[in-house]
Amino acid sequence: MLQDVETILFDEDVLLKRIKELGEEISKDYAGEEVMLVGILKGASVFMSDLIRQITIPAYIDYMVVSSYGNSAETSGVVRIIKDLEDNIEGKNIIIVEDIIDTGLTLDYLKKNLLNRNPKSLKICTLLDKPARRQKEIEIDYKGFDVPDEFIIGYGIDYAEKYRNLPFVGLLKREVYEKR
Ligand code: IMP
Ligand code: MG
Repeated sequence: MLQDVETILFDEDVLLKRIKELGEEISKDYAGEEVMLVGILKGASVFMSDLIRQITIPAYIDYMVVSSYGNSAETSGVVRIIKDLEDNIEGKNIIIVEDIIDTGLTLDYLKKNLLNRNPKSLKICTLLDKPARRQKEIEIDYKGFDVPDEFIIGYGIDYAEKYRNLPFVGLLKREVYEKR
């Protein structure tokens, strides 16, 4: 896989250091309360498992699966819930955990959908933010890093389901996704 990587943006140490800070921030903001982290599969699974271990207040986990890119590098703009939450979130502190926000279409839809279920609070935490192609304004409460308008892979993030197990966040070589 390494020959397909253009550059490494954030290695394991850098990621963990920033995630520790995010965990501390969340723990402080919700001191005396509990939070429910809602991870968006599959991309956020690696980030989620590192993040939750840096949170010192009671933290619960649930996951959603939504359709986004399919196997291509362009967003379809169509958001569909393929797997919903297991539990009722009414009256709970919810944090949506995403791997990367690009156009913002996925989160714009999800935020509205979850707000309809009357949580006590709803915030957004994303490891990466790619603001260049935003179509919907999204307020991000917790953010790891900004990334350039390139194709990102690794640390849970895929191209056509590949590269999720890379331990770092990097850029995919252009020739890999242009030759398909
Ligand atoms: P959005 O709806 O355009 O904000 O897309 C969000 C989702 O698209 C993310 O959760 C990712 O799964 C996927 N995505 C966006 N940018 C990239 C990228 O650079 N590499 C891989 N997946 C991406
Ligand atoms: Mg995703």
